Amino acid sequence: MASISLRAIEKRFGETPVLEGINLDIEAGEFLTLVGPSGCGKSTLLRILAGLEAPTSGTVVIDGNTVNEMRPADRNLAMVFQSYALYPHLTVAQNMMTPLRLRDLSFTERLPIAGPLLARSKHRALVRQVEDTAKVLKIDHLLARKPGQLSGGQRQRAALGRAMVRKPAGFLMDEPLSNLDAALRIHMRAELAELHRSLQTTFVYVTHDQAEALTMSDRMAVMMDGNILQLGTPDEIYNNPRDIRVAEFVGAPKINLLPGHLDSGGHACCGGVVLTRVAHTASDEITLGLRPEHLSVCDHTDQQALKGRVVHKENLGADIYLHISLQDGAHRMVVRATPVEGVPVSIGTDIAFKRLHGVAMVFDKAGKRIDLTDDTSAAVPEVA
Ligand SMILES: Nc1ncnc2c1ncn2[C@@H]1O[C@H](COP(=O)(O)OP(=O)(O)OP(=O)(O)O)[C@@H](O)[C@H]1O
Ligand SMILES: [Mg+2]
Repeated sequence: MASISLRAIEKRFGETPVLEGINLDIEAGEFLTLVGPSGCGKSTLLRILAGLEAPTSGTVVIDGNTVNEMRPADRNLAMVFQSYALYPHLTVAQNMMTPLRLRDLSFTERLPIAGPLLARSKHRALVRQVEDTAKVLKIDHLLARKPGQLSGGQRQRAALGRAMVRKPAGFLMDEPLSNLDAALRIHMRAELAELHRSLQTTFVYVTHDQAEALTMSDRMAVMMDGNILQLGTPDEIYNNPRDIRVAEFVGAPKINLLPGHLDSGGHACCGGVVLTRVAHTASDEITLGLRPEHLSVCDHTDQQALKGRVVHKENLGADIYLHISLQDGAHRMVVRATPVEGVPVSIGTDIAFKRLHGVAMVFDKAGKRIDLTDDTSAAVPEVA
């Protein structure tokens, strides 16, 4: 198990800054995800960790040792790519054996007489190692096949197997599931999380898919434009985003954002409706963030109600997402309803809805969250 620290990592390609001073401590045995939109620098950061790319400045520390000058092969971290990178002309078993052979070659070569004998017994041990790993990944019946004769999921498992056989201190994975179809991707999420639990090894996992990050990680680092905006558990990131860009990035359907203002008492208002209260009044122009599941359909006479008209609905069976055009005509919101509530769901219906008690996020003009005290989870008392 490797603990990994990144200290003030900067990276430029020519004049273009790609990473702008990344500090990150990854604990030994942790499943940490780097998540963010395309081009934000996730792969570059992972490649710097692996030693495939040198940082322009900053330090990479593995298990307390600075490894900037250390070759990738000596870092004892295994990399798994989206593209699998399997050799097409070799069987699964031979593909899985490759990293072991490469590592052992110099040793046997140095022994010209005992070498062949040693090599044979070594080979038998390696075959056993490959078979054991294949069993864990449930591909032991596929060892004689070539990559072209495997499904996408099986290929991904073979690539994982090749990374696992040499028992690395950590795995670095760059979008390993993105070539798989949607159902298999969801299945493999669970398998990877299980694999992590059984190996008890450090996983650093790159994805642009917020759902993958939320479902698999111990902690996730949300990256944008070469910076980490927030680092936290999936629960912290989803429920207590510190920045409006983080709030927008996680969650599907997206969080509803509404312009509002703070009155002199710190009440966050949207139109005539008071939605929550914050501890300070530094910024009178604010944005309110309300997740679809934190809103519920209510009576038109309710004082706390926002009003609009249903313009679209998505029926997902267990939930219905109502897209509502607000009375001001300028804004749309998505509200989650459940069929059991018996809500009017036909398009064109006028509808009233309100926030569930205690749930509304307030962001200042710069996009910083202002309804949280320093003690992360504690919101100030509510008005409603
Ligand atoms: N070798 C390179 N030379 C020049 N620019 C590069 C190079 N590699 C990456 N970049 C640029 O650096 C930025 C970050 O790239 P990176 O591959 O790290 O993004 P990413 O977050 O992994 O994106 P994606 O989700 O699309 O894989 C991009 O703007 C990219 O064009
Ligand atoms: Mg990438």
